[in-house]
Amino acid sequence: MVEPCTFVIFGATGNLARNKLLPALYHLESAGRLPAELKIAGFARRDWSDEHYRKAVEEYLEPHARNGLDREVFERFARRLCYFQGDLHEPDSYRDLASFLEERPLPANRIFYLAIRPAEFGDVSSHLASVGLNQEEKGWSRMVIEKPFGYDLESAHILEQQLHRNFREEQLFRIDHYLGKGTVQNVLVFRFANLMMEPLWNRNFIDHVQITHAESQGIEKRADYYDGAGALRDMMQSHLLQMLTLVAMEPPARLDAESLRDEKVKVLKSIRPIPPNAVHAQAFRAQYKNGVIDGQSVASYLDEEGVAPNSTTETYAALKLYIDNWRWRNVPFYIRTGKRMKRNTSMICIRFKHPPQQLFRETQLEQIKPNWLVLGIQPDECLRAELQVKVPGLEMRTRTTTLDASTCGIPQMKLDAYEALLLDVIEGDSSLFLRYDEVEWAWTVVDPILKVWSTEREYIHTYSAGGWGPEAANRLFDRDDQYWRNSINDEGETGEGE
Ligand code: BG6
Repeated sequence: MVEPCTFVIFGATGNLARNKLLPALYHLESAGRLPAELKIAGFARRDWSDEHYRKAVEEYLEPHARNGLDREVFERFARRLCYFQGDLHEPDSYRDLASFLEERPLPANRIFYLAIRPAEFGDVSSHLASVGLNQEEKGWSRMVIEKPFGYDLESAHILEQQLHRNFREEQLFRIDHYLGKGTVQNVLVFRFANLMMEPLWNRNFIDHVQITHAESQGIEKRADYYDGAGALRDMMQSHLLQMLTLVAMEPPARLDAESLRDEKVKVLKSIRPIPPNAVHAQAFRAQYKNGVIDGQSVASYLDEEGVAPNSTTETYAALKLYIDNWRWRNVPFYIRTGKRMKRNTSMICIRFKHPPQQLFRETQLEQIKPNWLVLGIQPDECLRAELQVKVPGLEMRTRTTTLDASTCGIPQMKLDAYEALLLDVIEGDSSLFLRYDEVEWAWTVVDPILKVWSTEREYIHTYSAGGWGPEAANRLFDRDDQYWRNSINDEGETGEGE
């Protein structure tokens, strides 16, 4: 049974709360998934009453509610909401918060969701502990934090020590919202609920793996955070490496949180370290110039509000990684992400090797195309296998045909990743949250690259907004016949280039 609890949101009027957390909780309300006794307490600085906060939440929800805001559902939801005025940096605020939670009274099981700047995680956790809100005598206490967990390996370690001074690992829920996406979870189901692929899922049959996350949006007024982070920290260290672990991991002994995370950590540990002198061969970065997306002119990164005029922060990053284990040795994993690209698309593409014998060499067949398996993550949720078949007629010609899982092209039930993950926090299931060693090993992978790039502050490659990124990124490929796939449909939209 799901227990009653109080969901405290730090940063209750901020972007994350408005755009993700409150809409997700509202949709869970609408689906009847919230425990009857769950209360939501917003913590923020403004001098507001409960009533005022409820009105504000109504406004936040308007643009996000699927099929419009349902009055009846919202009335139910609003009854759960209350507001606490406090200052994150003020020790007194935490004392008052503890009394507020106690005296209202609100359920003694508590979730503290830190929808605030990562730089404040450590201090807020210490303040909470100083008034006993980390204690679990009367009910459980969980703390949820969002990436980035630290800025590099060393700072991640310092943050961790600070958090662990007051909270046990089981109390900490580190969110990577990619793991809440149904299509990302589908990678596990596809691999481990089907026997067919398993014999092929290794170095003997797979030529390489590509993971792409492209966005047409720019940095959306987040220069404050993004200019100090860049694509490698923002997307690679977290979401893309997580996807890579799901593609590459061994079957876990069981589907519980620890078994799953143990296997993911093994993958991260097996990634071949990139020495400083190999960074250029294995990592590429670039920044967008102005360009045109969907017929609209868009500004260059350097012209975005709040970006330093001489910034060399990357908005595009691509890596070639090798996983040194029996299954994957010498199979390149190409992963890339970019802002202001031609289209939003996230997908995992697996290219198989050529058959060992060119049986059709004497016929009119030119080079036979290899098989691909494409897992569309978003916006097209799709599972597609590409196979070669004979073109009807007297000649021995081939063409590519596709086997699509029935989800291809069919609008999916829209479920935001946060809905699944918030429910998991409420239910205490941490399988889809990161354990510290995952974070640490992911930093270990990217840290050497960050170090080299941080010394190269004079120059960065550029690419036109609205393209598929810089052509020079092709230098990561091992061979000439490897190329980036930019779309689920291979035809016509291959390769890099502006
Ligand atoms: C966030 C990054 O974690 O993920 C953003 O900070 C990025 O820069 C976003 O745009 C992408 O998430 P999604 O769910 O829109 O693919």
